[in-house]
Amino acid sequence: MILLDGLKISKKRNEELKDKIDKLILANKRQPKLIIIQVGNNPASNSYIKSKIKNSTLVGIDASLLKYEEDITEEELLNKISLLNLDHSIDGILVQLPLPKHLNERKILDSINYLKDVDGFHTYNSGLLFQKQRAIHAATPEGIINLLNEYKIKVEGLNAVVIGRSNIVGFPISKLLLDLNATVTICHSKTKNLKFHTKHADLIIAAIGKPLFLTKDMVKKGVIIIDVGINRLEEKLVGDVDFENVKTKASYITPVPKGVGPMTVNALLENLYKLYLIHENL
Ligand code: GUN
Repeated sequence: MILLDGLKISKKRNEELKDKIDKLILANKRQPKLIIIQVGNNPASNSYIKSKIKNSTLVGIDASLLKYEEDITEEELLNKISLLNLDHSIDGILVQLPLPKHLNERKILDSINYLKDVDGFHTYNSGLLFQKQRAIHAATPEGIINLLNEYKIKVEGLNAVVIGRSNIVGFPISKLLLDLNATVTICHSKTKNLKFHTKHADLIIAAIGKPLFLTKDMVKKGVIIIDVGINRLEEKLVGDVDFENVKTKASYITPVPKGVGPMTVNALLENLYKLYLIHENL
């Protein structure tokens, strides 16, 4: 079994990104800038945002958090975003999800200028992905593909089973794997006989949101496992995969934490840099 060490790979890629940004700053270019918008005080969001800001700073991206009260109106939030859209010093705007129920998530994500859509959640950017055009991809799917590439894992021809169909992970990763010529099955909460599908999988992307959901009896020997879950269980962080038991059958497997999580943050920073290059005509 080979551990897919997302922390190590993300550090390497972050350092490469830092080198590129350092060179630009030495050449008197402006600093890349990311704005994160948070509404309310969701504890999981607090911890994700902390990591995004810390890693931005490490690579030389100027990242700031705009934190608003839970009861901000949709109109107020849309007005804030439209001002950020007009500010030429800002390369990326990230609205941390989930948003409170009274805010229309789709309307807010689509109010971000698609050239500042660092998360790749804008309807236009997700449309580009489905037309196989160059686009900013959602950070978690992009981070997973980067991790597979770094370990030289070829997905062409593999039976890939994606569990979960969210706009953030399941759906876009399915399209990225399909574009790499995997045979992709998307499973979800209404799937009958999930085990039938997982048992035949060469590659499993677990994005379910249930702790230790994927067990040893559900996978075949030699399977490649990518665990997207981050769940708190008895004060410990665990994935959607029963790592300790599944690892005995896997050829490659990501740990939780230190697997997909840091690769997601790295992909986000690389996205911000891509947008910066567009804005600066570089
Ligand atoms: N909430 C959970 N995952 C994400 C993500 O990738 N981006 C944002 N903005 N919010 C999230």
